[in-house]
Amino acid sequence: VPSPDMEDEPTIFVGILTVSDRCSSGENQDISGPRIQALIQSIPRFRVIVKVQKIVPDEVLVIQETLKDWSDKLGLSLILTTGGTGFSPRDVTPEATKAVIEKDAPAMAVAINIAALKITPHAMLSRAVCGIRGNVLIVNLPGSAKASTECLTVILPALPHGIDLLR
Ligand code: MTE
Repeated sequence: VPSPDMEDEPTIFVGILTVSDRCSSGENQDISGPRIQALIQSIPRFRVIVKVQKIVPDEVLVIQETLKDWSDKLGLSLILTTGGTGFSPRDVTPEATKAVIEKDAPAMAVAINIAALKITPHAMLSRAVCGIRGNVLIVNLPGSAKASTECLTVILPALPHGIDLLR
């Protein structure tokens, strides 16, 4: 039973996109997608409904089309991607994201980087970007369950006000 003050919480719709060749082929299990889904429920002030969740391979056009489709048609406030942000030849999530965003939100990426670098120097190996398409904020997170949840935790306190401003 929701508490009285919870009933006033506005609902937001979220999409979670796991970008990974190995998860997409079934070779690996997607751990990060479900972990992110659980963590985004703890965003302050909003009731979160994860409306879409999908696993795609590290193919720039597939990622781009999915981000466009989700941003333009589903009434989402937020899309979280996980994976494909690193230096390996197949890592193209930031390129796909840059191709579809209309506005860059560089300070979110910087905030993630500053916090993540205090945890591990490997944080500098993520090229993740954040930006806005229409009314939707798109945030790239790294691929491992550890890294993706650490990075999402950094931006959680600022997300409600950010989402308010987008609507
Ligand atoms: N960020 C945090 N907070 N914690 C981590 O352990 N790992 C890094 C980095 N960002 C890490 C992190 C590592 S090892 C890599 S290779 C890059 O994210 C890119 O990861 P990806 O290619 O899976 O997206």
